[in-house]
Amino acid sequence: MMYKYAVFGNPIAHSLSTLIHKHFAKECGIDLSYEKILVEDGTFVKTAQDFLAKGGLGFNITVPCKIEALNFVKEHGVLSNTASLAGAVNTIAYKDGKILGDNTDGFGLCLDLKRLSCPLEGSSVLVIGAGGAVRGIIEPLFVQGKVDNIVLVNRTYEKACALAGYFASLGFKISAEDFSSLKGDFKVIINASSSSLQKQLPPIEDEILNKAQFAYDLMYHVSGETIFTQKMQSLGVKAYDGLGMLVAQASRSFEIWQGVRPSIENTLAYMREVLKSHA
Ligand code: ATR
Repeated sequence: MMYKYAVFGNPIAHSLSTLIHKHFAKECGIDLSYEKILVEDGTFVKTAQDFLAKGGLGFNITVPCKIEALNFVKEHGVLSNTASLAGAVNTIAYKDGKILGDNTDGFGLCLDLKRLSCPLEGSSVLVIGAGGAVRGIIEPLFVQGKVDNIVLVNRTYEKACALAGYFASLGFKISAEDFSSLKGDFKVIINASSSSLQKQLPPIEDEILNKAQFAYDLMYHVSGETIFTQKMQSLGVKAYDGLGMLVAQASRSFEIWQGVRPSIENTLAYMREVLKSHA
């Protein structure tokens, strides 16, 4: 049987998801199709319904459709608690006539951090940024990663306050700080802002950065390094880019659809090669 999956977004041509899922399928001996579907403005619901009506068993959702996907699942299906807290859906499964919506980004991050032996459990964690990416990783860092507490720091302080306030009101040990007054001792530092895309460093003193034992950037680069991971390494801190998270969040989607979670290592090595050959 050929299983039918896809990724929805706009733009979509650049998406690496097809290569990742086809590689997983090969590794697991599963026959599947995985196409890229461009979603024009205002057509998400129709595109989703058409895809499922034509035998689609699930799809991933990327920028800018993750909130539309959340609303679609709220109306027509069942939403996971993680997706609800993330405020976004990146994976939809269609099983026994039911639509299920989940968000695998945070799971993927925690899986990759575990693979890299990040000392997450019981740690004080600094998370840089306060956008959609950050919202998706907070609950998994606490529940799956068992961190002790999170401090959010963001260029726009008000956004960090709003996000930290929301999660604190749900009982999570999280607070917001301004870059200029940031203090503390963080074992793990996660850059979940898009600063590395602009080749900019978050304005944090070396005295704070060099106390960390581990750093991670959600952004990735063909070289395996970002301006942020390079900075952390220059201070003697182990630091990794986010390609592993991209592969890991996809492995969780695959598991939701197929009931088996492919290992990350081989597909990650393959994706590094793919990126190099396209550079
Ligand atoms: P995403 O969904 O990837 O999180 P986003 O919602 O646009 O994307 O958020 C991007 C995040 O990166 C924001 O926290 C942004 O800070 P602001 O809230 O002040 O906009 C942060 N960011 C972007 N460029 C940055 C830079 N050069 N330095 C520091 N933070 C930056």
